[in-house]
Amino acid sequence: MAFKRTYKFAFLSSLLLSFLACLILFGLDSYFNITLPLNYFLIFFISFLMLSLLIIQNRVQQFIYKKVQKIYDNVSLLDVSDVDKRAMTSDMDTLSKKVNEFAEGKRLEIETLQVREAYRREFLGNISHELKTPLFTIQGYILTLLEGAAKDKELRTKYLKRADIGVERLIYIIKDLDMIAKLESGDLNLKSETIDVVSLIKDSFELLEIKAKKNDITLTFDKNYDIPILVKGDKERIEQVLINLIINSIKYGVRGGVTTISIANFSINQIVINVKDNGEGISEAHIPRLFERFYRIERSRSREQGGSGLGLAIVKHIVESHKQQVFVKSTLGKGSAFSFTLKKVI
Ligand SMILES: Nc1ncnc2c1ncn2[C@@H]1O[C@H](COP(=O)(O)OP(=O)(O)O)[C@@H](O)[C@H]1O
Ligand SMILES: [Mg+2]
Repeated sequence: MAFKRTYKFAFLSSLLLSFLACLILFGLDSYFNITLPLNYFLIFFISFLMLSLLIIQNRVQQFIYKKVQKIYDNVSLLDVSDVDKRAMTSDMDTLSKKVNEFAEGKRLEIETLQVREAYRREFLGNISHELKTPLFTIQGYILTLLEGAAKDKELRTKYLKRADIGVERLIYIIKDLDMIAKLESGDLNLKSETIDVVSLIKDSFELLEIKAKKNDITLTFDKNYDIPILVKGDKERIEQVLINLIINSIKYGVRGGVTTISIANFSINQIVINVKDNGEGISEAHIPRLFERFYRIERSRSREQGGSGLGLAIVKHIVESHKQQVFVKSTLGKGSAFSFTLKKVI
């Protein structure tokens, strides 16, 4: 046992010292020609042994304690005053266990930092990639115009219009980035308003009517909601959630498709809003990553549909900052349903 180790050490050391002391005494004895009785030696030996044992044991303990205290202080494992002096000096197992725990904690901390660093790098890479595409498109049109296309009136208008679409795309991405940054830094300042979701959905439908018509998509409720359904939340943000989900259903829908919104009870104090489409759907493999920033499905129409890949990340952020949940259900080729809960006003 570790407990006995220091005693054993002290005992052996004092035994050695006592022998040496006796040997010196014996040497002096014969040098000065004094003959001391054997009893005298015995008493000397025993008292020397006891004294040195006491001193060594104490000194060793003191020494270890100081060293250990230093280690504890350095690694700030725990408050030194919490530790029993005797237990700490003799129980090396506890100490090494604590140090190991500490090292493990540090290892985890470093791992998290590394993951975060990789994430940050990926994030920056994604931003520049997303910005580059529209920027180069715009530059391409401007260069063509400068090289002479500007003289042709028809071409001029056509290229300027295309450049304008690129600029709009840039603005769209930057707005999304701005929103993500605000959401992540936490200075969102969510308002707590009483909102009628029925009229909020109607407003969003109206706002996106032209876009939906362009893609030949019908926006509709699953049934008539005659009376207002009141919830608590930040109106502007919740409208943003609705708009993002409806826009997705338009962008990834099929021509002649339908986007249906339903409102239902979810729990005693929650409702759930469901945005369902009969569009291209999402394969199961992509679903877990869908809400990540910049995540877009390569094979879907997302590339030509030019979004930022931030829409669903924003949706998740807003819903979760309301302490609510968001769900997705989708079948490839059949359609998708995104839903989120909201707190009822009762
Ligand atoms: N209703 C939907 N139907 C099919 N795919 C969808 C739908 N909503 C989102 N997706 C897929 O999820 C990806 C991420 O969506 P989102 O975060 O809104 O980014 P964005 O729309 O800018 O590409 C989209 O690129 C698309 O592939
Ligand atoms: Mg989107």
